[in-house]
Amino acid sequence: MMTLLVLIEELGIAFITMHFLTPSIYYVVALGWLRSNKRSGDKTELSVDPPLVSVIIPTYNEAKAIIQKLNNVYSQDYPRDRFEVIIVDSGSTDRTVELIHEWIKGHDGINVRVIEEGARMGKMHALNTALKYAKGDIIVITDADSAWTQDSLRNAVTWLMTDGVGAVSCNKIPRTDKDVEAEYRSYYGLLRIAESRKFSSAIFHGELAAYRRDLLEKIGGFPMDVGADDSHTAGLISMLGYRAIIPENVRCIEYVPSKGYWMWRIRRAQHLIQHFLRILKYMVTNGKELPRDYRQIMLYESYLHLINPWLFVIGFVLVIISAMHGAIIPIVLILIGMVLLAIRFFRTWITTQVILVVASIRNLWNKELVWRKIEK
Ligand code: GDD
Ligand code: MN
Repeated sequence: MMTLLVLIEELGIAFITMHFLTPSIYYVVALGWLRSNKRSGDKTELSVDPPLVSVIIPTYNEAKAIIQKLNNVYSQDYPRDRFEVIIVDSGSTDRTVELIHEWIKGHDGINVRVIEEGARMGKMHALNTALKYAKGDIIVITDADSAWTQDSLRNAVTWLMTDGVGAVSCNKIPRTDKDVEAEYRSYYGLLRIAESRKFSSAIFHGELAAYRRDLLEKIGGFPMDVGADDSHTAGLISMLGYRAIIPENVRCIEYVPSKGYWMWRIRRAQHLIQHFLRILKYMVTNGKELPRDYRQIMLYESYLHLINPWLFVIGFVLVIISAMHGAIIPIVLILIGMVLLAIRFFRTWITTQVILVVASIRNLWNKELVWRKIEK
């Protein structure tokens, strides 16, 4: 009995230590990448003629957001005759499609098309439908409930015209009253930029995800069986040897729901987990063929998303058990943890770990490939 308790205590402490140590090491490594790789400094001048861009907006019941979205795209600092907008609607039951047609009547000089799928088959299906109609050399996906800064499109395209870059996404600026969400963004935002300097960002964002069309065709269009279409498409492009980056000067604004926030976080975590599991599988089978830098990033990131959260949860349970049996170090650890909860960053971190664990369990029975709309 005594030795079992000692084992529980030691394992608990070891798990918790490892849980906090690995991401700290990764953070320091990432800071190093930020400093040593200046190759993605700001680029704003397009040195060639602006390429033709297809901006694709998938919609399902977006009546509340779509007008604002269209106005936002309309006011981009990119020649209006060099981009088209393709909206794919999948059976919205609100006024989305009507509103779009009204907007089109009121705006000249911009090419906006609406494709109606009739039935709802999910975002990824809609993107592949749009791809069939798109004429651009560059394909930009953007969620209806998000916004760009005026230079987002131009900066993204400029980056995409750089040698070796196959995909570009944005730095998210959350529009929210939730401090947990804002904190989460500033920490992860830095990692995304650092990874992009090294090779590719492990994660992409649907608020602005731009791809070279030829590469999209090479990978067979958008993946249909992984919820995180944005991150996974970027992953597939990276595995071809092209960089999928989030540069500092490409920004987007994300609307964060206040009601249904937790379910929203869990579903997105589920999608990310599906993405990392899939990439991990490729790495195990064809690891040698992947770019070395990308492999390094994805090994860290899949560990952080798939395994590290469990170390915390299991370690926490073990520490509680041994504290209840009077072990001193676990009691001290719990007290320290309670004090640290006063710090916003620590709260955010713990919340995220719990969400990742819940999400990986939920993935066992529901992959959420077609999801419930959560109003922002
Ligand atoms: N055509 C079509 N059909 N569009 C859809 C469907 C569908 O079945 N489902 C969702 N969409 C559209 C939405 O209207 C929105 O423009 C965009 O896809 C994103 O969907 P949201 O419901 O707003 O999801 P989110 O805000 O949580 O999305 C984030 O996470 C997703 C993965 O979990 C974004 O980053 C998405 O880009 C990402 O796919
Ligand atoms: Mn959304």
